[in-house]
Amino acid sequence: MAPRKIIIDTDPGQDDAVAILLALASPEDIEVLGITAVAGNVPLPLTEKNARIVCELAGKPETKVFAGCDAPMKRKLVTAEHVHGKTGLDGPQLADPTMPLQDQHAVDFIIETLRREPSRTVTLCPIGPLTNIAVAFERAPDIIERVQEIVLMGGAYFEVGNITPTAEFNIYVDPEAAKIVFAAGAPLVVMPLDVTHKALTTRNRIDAFRAMHTKVGDMVAAWTDFFERFDMEKYGSEGAPLHDPCTIAYLIEPQLFEGRHINVEIETDAELTFGMTVADWWRVTDRAANAMFMKDIDASGFYALLAARLARL
Ligand code: BDR
Ligand code: CA
Repeated sequence: MAPRKIIIDTDPGQDDAVAILLALASPEDIEVLGITAVAGNVPLPLTEKNARIVCELAGKPETKVFAGCDAPMKRKLVTAEHVHGKTGLDGPQLADPTMPLQDQHAVDFIIETLRREPSRTVTLCPIGPLTNIAVAFERAPDIIERVQEIVLMGGAYFEVGNITPTAEFNIYVDPEAAKIVFAAGAPLVVMPLDVTHKALTTRNRIDAFRAMHTKVGDMVAAWTDFFERFDMEKYGSEGAPLHDPCTIAYLIEPQLFEGRHINVEIETDAELTFGMTVADWWRVTDRAANAMFMKDIDASGFYALLAARLARL
């Protein structure tokens, strides 16, 4: 089968970085048409720069990186330096990238790519706030039916929230954008915290990265060491969740994941549940299903896939 063509929409972020590395390490499965940066974990000048740092680390400086929206559609940007550090990619210091940033705006790239490529052959992988995708859908509604699938990291149901008691970070930062994307009608696969909180970086798993004795292996081990301190303190868990690579792993080995095709709505009005993904897991409403909402992951299989693929870089 020909590799799946994807656009990664991202706000790196150590876990975003691992997602990008996994995609770039898997050319037989995935062709990365471009990486579009959005403001999220840190402001846009850092996320676009971090995306380029990661491409260079992967030895793929020819990858096209575009800068997109620098703020949510209707709100002030909320960032997550408390998790990812001041640069978004805290851990060992990495050199500034020398590969260029593309001139085109990320939203224009998304629109142009979906119009140019044959219909339903391009998959969107948003792993940050959904601003770029929603703005593209609003500006060019004709592209929505041309999307093959959207495979995103965001939301939660059983795990509820991480940035507020009821909201997950990516959805919370730009809930109006999330609402547009969840209502768009494109095939949607959601990797919520319910999945990613089961994909923990345990000591053995981090050691497997280090045992590669490569720059990428060392860096991934150091990144996960850095950002796991936050979740270990917060949840008392064995390690930190590697959220974003779940989307890319799904494209390579979908059988690692299990979920339900259900209705998921985004709360944008209520004060206490603002940014919540209200998932009708038990199918107690007659609202139409709009998302494949994942709940379970074969975490050992996921980490085995990551280790095998990252060892190639
Ligand atoms: C999401 O928020 C970000 O901090 C991570 O990169 C991930 O995309 C998890 O809630
Ligand atoms: Ca992210």
